[in-house]
Amino acid sequence: MHLSHLSLTNFRLFSRLDMDVPRRILLLMGANAQGKTSLLEAIFYMATFSSFHAQNDRQLLNFIATRENLSVARMIATYQRQDRVHRLEVRLIQDSNGNGGARLRKEVLLDGVKTPPIQVIGHLNAVIFLPQMTGVLEDGPAERRRYLDLLISQAQPAYTRALSEYSQALTQRNALLKLLNDRGGDSSQLIYWDELLASRGALLISARIDAIQELEQFAKRIHEQLTGSSEVIRLIYQPSYDPLPPPQGQFALPIQVQVQRNGLTVEKIKVGFLERLGKVRNEEISRGVTTIGPHRDEMRVLCNGIDLTDFGSRGQIRTALLSLKLAEVDWLKQKTGEWPILLLDETLAELDMQRRNYLLNYLENVEQVILTTTDMNLFPPDFREKCERWQIVSGSVEKLSNEI
Ligand SMILES: Nc1ncnc2c1ncn2[C@@H]1O[C@H](COP(=O)(O)OP(=O)(O)OP(=O)(O)O)[C@@H](O)[C@H]1O
Ligand SMILES: [Mg+2]
Repeated sequence: MHLSHLSLTNFRLFSRLDMDVPRRILLLMGANAQGKTSLLEAIFYMATFSSFHAQNDRQLLNFIATRENLSVARMIATYQRQDRVHRLEVRLIQDSNGNGGARLRKEVLLDGVKTPPIQVIGHLNAVIFLPQMTGVLEDGPAERRRYLDLLISQAQPAYTRALSEYSQALTQRNALLKLLNDRGGDSSQLIYWDELLASRGALLISARIDAIQELEQFAKRIHEQLTGSSEVIRLIYQPSYDPLPPPQGQFALPIQVQVQRNGLTVEKIKVGFLERLGKVRNEEISRGVTTIGPHRDEMRVLCNGIDLTDFGSRGQIRTALLSLKLAEVDWLKQKTGEWPILLLDETLAELDMQRRNYLLNYLENVEQVILTTTDMNLFPPDFREKCERWQIVSGSVEKLSNEI
C-alpha cells in the first residue's frame, strides 16, 4: 500500500497542506515545532481513528480555527491498495451544542461514501513509532491493551466490532452490577449481559492469543538482529480470564513460561468464560464491577527473561519497542497482504550505530516509509541518496534540491 497524496486543513498547525507523497522513502527534515510529528499523526489517525498523542480529537483541530463558531478539520488521503486507488476523507466538525458549548462530530467518507468510522479502521494501514511511545512498555497494562487493540483492529474488522460491542456490554453490565449492589434485585438480569460479554470477550481473547504469538515470532527475529544476538525478546500474554486451567500443583506460574493456548476454539473460550462469570457473580455484585475479562488483560515483554516494564533500561525499552514496531509491519503485511505505511518520528537519534544500520537496511523491504529528522546528517549519504528529501517549516513542506 502506498499513500500518493495528503491534504490537511485546520489539522493542528496545518491551516492548509497539500502534498504529493513520494512512493518510497520520504525523509522529512525540520527544526523543532515545525509540524513533523503532526504530519505523521494525521496519517496514523486515518488508519486507526486514534492518535497516540492527543487526549481527545478536539486537540487535533487547529486552535485558531476553533475560535470560530463552526470549524472543520479535514484530512484527505489518496492511496493505493490492492491495485485500486482510494480516497479517504475524515472531517472533525466542531459546532455549537445549542447550550453555548461546543460539540465535535466525526464524518468519514470512503471513496465519497459516508461510512461509519468503525468500518473504515484499517482500510489504510500504518505503523507509527514515536520516541515518546515508550509508555507502551513503561506504563500500566492499559497501554499494552491499547497497543494490541490498535494493531489487531487494523487487520481484522471483526475484532474492531467485537471490541466495541464488548465495551458497550461491559459498561451496561457494570451499571447493572452497581444497581444490584445498591438496591438488590433479581440477579438473573445479568444473564443477557454475561452472554454478550462472553461471546465478544472470547473473540478478543482468541485473537489476542494468535496475534501475540505471531508478533513474537517476528519480533524475535528482528530483535536478535537489532541487538547482535545479545538479547532474546518474548511476549507473554496474561489473560485476565484464562481459558486454560492453572497446571496442577503450581500456584504461581513463573512469568517466563509461555503457555500454549492456541488450538482453543472461540466457542470453547466463550463457554469457559461464561461459566467463570457464573462463579464470580456474587463477588462481582458485592464489588459492583466486572472483575474478569479482556478489559483486564496484560501482555508482558521480556528480554533475556527480564520483565522490561519493571526492570528494563531505557535503551533496552527503546530497542524492544522498535522491534515490536517493525514486527507490526511484518505482521500486518502477513495478515492483510499489504505493506503498511511506516511512520518513523526521529527514530535514528536515539539508536546506536548497529541499530541504525539494521533499521536502515530493514527499510529496503518496506513499500513506503516516512522518516522525520531534525538533522539530515544522522543519515549516511548513500541512504540519503535513496530518499526524497523534503523540508518542513511552520507547516509548509517543500522538496529539497538533489544535492546530498
Ligand atoms: N491544535 C493545534 N493547533 C495549532 N497548532 C498546534 C496544535 N497542536 C499543536 N500545535 C503546534 O504545532 C507545532 C508543531 O508541533 P509538532 O509536534 O508537529 O512539531 P515537530 O516538528 O514534531 O517538533 P519537535 O521537533 O519538537 O518534535 C507546535 O508548535 C505545536 O504547539
Ligand atoms: Mg516531533
